[in-house]
Amino acid sequence: MQEKNPRGKFITIEGLEGVGKSTNVSLVRNQLTDAGHEVIVTREPGGTKIGEGIRDLLLNPEFGGFDPKSIGMDPVAELLLIFAARRQHVAELIEPALRQGKWVVSDRFTDSSYAYQGGGRGLPTSLIADLERLSIDAFAPDLCILLDMNPGKGLARASQGDLVDRFEAESNEFFDAVREAFLARAKDSPRHSIVDASQPIAAVQRQITKIIQELLQG
Ligand code: TYD
Repeated sequence: MQEKNPRGKFITIEGLEGVGKSTNVSLVRNQLTDAGHEVIVTREPGGTKIGEGIRDLLLNPEFGGFDPKSIGMDPVAELLLIFAARRQHVAELIEPALRQGKWVVSDRFTDSSYAYQGGGRGLPTSLIADLERLSIDAFAPDLCILLDMNPGKGLARASQGDLVDRFEAESNEFFDAVREAFLARAKDSPRHSIVDASQPIAAVQRQITKIIQELLQG
């Protein structure tokens, strides 16, 4: 009889724009693959066809409130769209993959909502927690790696070349508040590891490799 695969693990990489999330997602993917796991890499908002459609709405600078005739996207509407995309992501991709024994690595997840919609937009944490429970039954990662960096440095990197999206157009104060909310959530949480992303890349990668090694052994 064929043995059932043990459930896979869910890892998220979080942090402000430009802190090097995508490079480190690849690093984690390679390390897990080398350890013999089947790995799915995904991102939020997005990860599914429906989620990517919602992502387009969320990032579209036309909905930024720059048009004096429009209030732009209401913060609660923004939060609802994010959780709609997340519900689809969990139901369609993440949960089935974990059940099949695959490991899933996501560039952003619910911590980004606490940071951007909570810290940045000022929505109450209790509202986000309620929605988290209602929409995804508070489904949470096994490990969250927070790449922490001063917003100024990362944003300068993130905006190089690309058109500015609805979030990148936000103020320094917004990103300071986002960073603080990320840190507040990660501090004291056994599920989170904070990595100083302003270190040289080799040092960042050494630290992440060690964190993943511990998860693999645990
Ligand atoms: P993206 O271009 O993917 O940013 P990055 O490349 O830095 O990851 O854009 C995603 C944007 O969506 C980012 O600015 C943060 C925002 N976001 C939220 O505000 N709340 C959320 O819950 C998530 C997942 C993302």
